[in-house]
Amino acid sequence: MLHPESAQKRYWEILVFIFTVLASVIIPYRFVLPAPAGPGILLIEGIWSVVFILNILITLRSAVFHNGILINDPKTIYRKYLSKGFALDFISALPFDLFFDLLESSGMTNSLGPYTQFILILRFLRLLRLIPSIRLTHQWQHSHLFNPSLVHMLFLFFWILMIAHWGACGWIYFSGLGPVQDHYTKYIRALYWSITTLTTIGYGDIVPVTNTQIIYAMLVAISGAGLYGYVIGNIASLLANMNIAKTQHLEKMKTINTFMRYKDFPTELQQKIRKYYTYLWESRRDYDEVSLTKDMPSSLKREVSLFLKREVIEKVPIFRGTEDGFIKEIVMHLKPVVYTPGDFIFHAGEIGHDMYFISKGVVEIVSGDGSNVYATLTDGDFFGEIALVTNQPRTASVRAADYCDLYTLDKKTLERVLEHFPDIAGHIHAMAKERASSTAEQKMQMPEK
Ligand code: CMP
Repeated sequence: MLHPESAQKRYWEILVFIFTVLASVIIPYRFVLPAPAGPGILLIEGIWSVVFILNILITLRSAVFHNGILINDPKTIYRKYLSKGFALDFISALPFDLFFDLLESSGMTNSLGPYTQFILILRFLRLLRLIPSIRLTHQWQHSHLFNPSLVHMLFLFFWILMIAHWGACGWIYFSGLGPVQDHYTKYIRALYWSITTLTTIGYGDIVPVTNTQIIYAMLVAISGAGLYGYVIGNIASLLANMNIAKTQHLEKMKTINTFMRYKDFPTELQQKIRKYYTYLWESRRDYDEVSLTKDMPSSLKREVSLFLKREVIEKVPIFRGTEDGFIKEIVMHLKPVVYTPGDFIFHAGEIGHDMYFISKGVVEIVSGDGSNVYATLTDGDFFGEIALVTNQPRTASVRAADYCDLYTLDKKTLERVLEHFPDIAGHIHAMAKERASSTAEQKMQMPEK
């Protein structure tokens, strides 16, 4: 069974869509501007006949989603397809066009006698395939594989062009073009009339004469007025929503800037705040995990958490290769924080509440006054563990030397996991001991100024 969301199925759907569009363009055109079918047309008609028939077989061999559940059972699939969708697919797969053109090219259309017109009209049954295609284009718009606003806009233009084409074919059918002879000129003028009428421009250089033409022109103009309003409304809202995250970010920056000016923030602080928000925007598009997952059930929250923190989990040596249980235990408690260059994450002598893991960036372990640098830590390192395991004040200050993406782990969680995972506890304790003595030694050699 073919998975409904597999790449093969998607490519196949795109192929069927292309041939549906081709049929919807060529069939009305050839109806109003008949010409003997050349080998090119016969080939295209042959291909789309095969594609539409194959599509029925492929749909029968494809699993479907029902209420979010994947259905693989062939019998249920047949039943569902027969009750919905099959009739349209079957009727539009009947090769009346190919049949007629083959007869015509072998000079046998006379044998159809009075049924000739009837068969010509039956070719329009192909256009029924547009109905499932419309449903498909809606699915593509909501599949979020691409920017939905962009896809919506593309389809909007596509349908406008299709409607203009059909409008032009209708105009040719009611022969509103006078004695113009060749097909190309006829079609171009009809398309020009159709577009100017649909867009309510109506220059009035091509005018309806007979009653039928006037009625047709009125109908197209009325549809045009509706279409015009619909399109303008849609484009306005699409442009507004095209980059909703960016718009929200700019709005937030505007509010922050106004507030900082109103409260007379020092220029340096203003710049620092702006830089911080710019970094948040550039590094994570302003999204934070808590607001993103707040409505999700806890199992899904954990999955998202594991995914978002995969980078830090891969980088930090004590996380790598540890039991799954350990990662699952702490992943939900790791809280992301960002520091800008020069920020003090905490100062020596403070009470410790959290330890930190570096996902990206560089921090300096410095003396209380910031004059001596004891160590520099980077991606995958952790710090702030000594105060938590010894219940002593912070042994040093920590300063961000670059933009730092860190994760904090609170003391309670750390104590709980250390209790259950003695290997990791051993590693952290050993590290704390080694670092504490190295810093103590350095303090002796380089006393604070
Ligand atoms: P804590 O004492 O809680 O706060 C300061 C942190 O700096 C400390 O925990 C260690 O994690 C870290 N630290 C202190 N000394 C060193 C060192 N010599 N090398 C690396 N990290 C250190």
